[in-house]
Amino acid sequence: MSTQPIGIFDSGIGGTSVFKEIKALLPNEHTIYLADSFNAPYGNKTKQEIIDLSIKNTELLIQKNCKLIVVACNTATTNAITTLRDSYNIPFIGIEPAIKPAALSTQTKAIGILATKGTLSSELFHKTTDLYSKGIKVIEQVGEGIVTLIEEGKTDSDEMKTLLLTYLKPMLDADIDYLVLGCTHYPYLIPLLLDMLPKHVKIIDSGQAVARQTKTVLEQHQLLNTLSTQGDNQFYTNGTVDVLTDILERKYRVQHLQF
Ligand code: SIN
Repeated sequence: MSTQPIGIFDSGIGGTSVFKEIKALLPNEHTIYLADSFNAPYGNKTKQEIIDLSIKNTELLIQKNCKLIVVACNTATTNAITTLRDSYNIPFIGIEPAIKPAALSTQTKAIGILATKGTLSSELFHKTTDLYSKGIKVIEQVGEGIVTLIEEGKTDSDEMKTLLLTYLKPMLDADIDYLVLGCTHYPYLIPLLLDMLPKHVKIIDSGQAVARQTKTVLEQHQLLNTLSTQGDNQFYTNGTVDVLTDILERKYRVQHLQF
């Protein structure tokens, strides 16, 4: 049993989609969320830059006494989680695009994956895709510009709709029936995507699976907080406080911190 907080970091506000799933499953856990919005997007950075930023975020969460860290960013997971696991003596939970469930369920034998350049070009992504994509078409699409618009609070803008129309076209032409969201910012696009996609196309993201995995790993390490009181949730951003506050539906206090 441990009352230490769970640390969560992302290149910005997108990892709050994962935070919400963790909170729903483990309401009594304390959490500390770091939004590295000043350095967003991670998706166009080099592997070494992503590793350095991930180490910086991890050091801060460890200083704040976190017992486990959720890397709530696909780009940071695919590029840096191996280094983090090799360098620190606490458990790390990563987030990878849910290729497997989509590949196993597709009827049209075509799935789409929308993710950052950093994720789609990573070794870990290629290994997972090669493993599960035998006999099916995987239409990969870099979501260039999407993270920046979400970080600017323009999730529901005309600019976003135009980008999505362009990115979805090759997938729809290939008759996909599953769209995998490979970036933790993208679940905030689901209302827009539901309007734009044909009804038979299902959208998959990894948030709930990550929350379940967090619980399992805490249990395995005997680190679950078994108190029945609600956990305390702290949020820090090195970007704009209002954008993070809004995406959290103004339920939590967000503090500005330089890191
Ligand atoms: C980014 O910062 O470019 C996106 C983060 C992610 O891959 O989840």
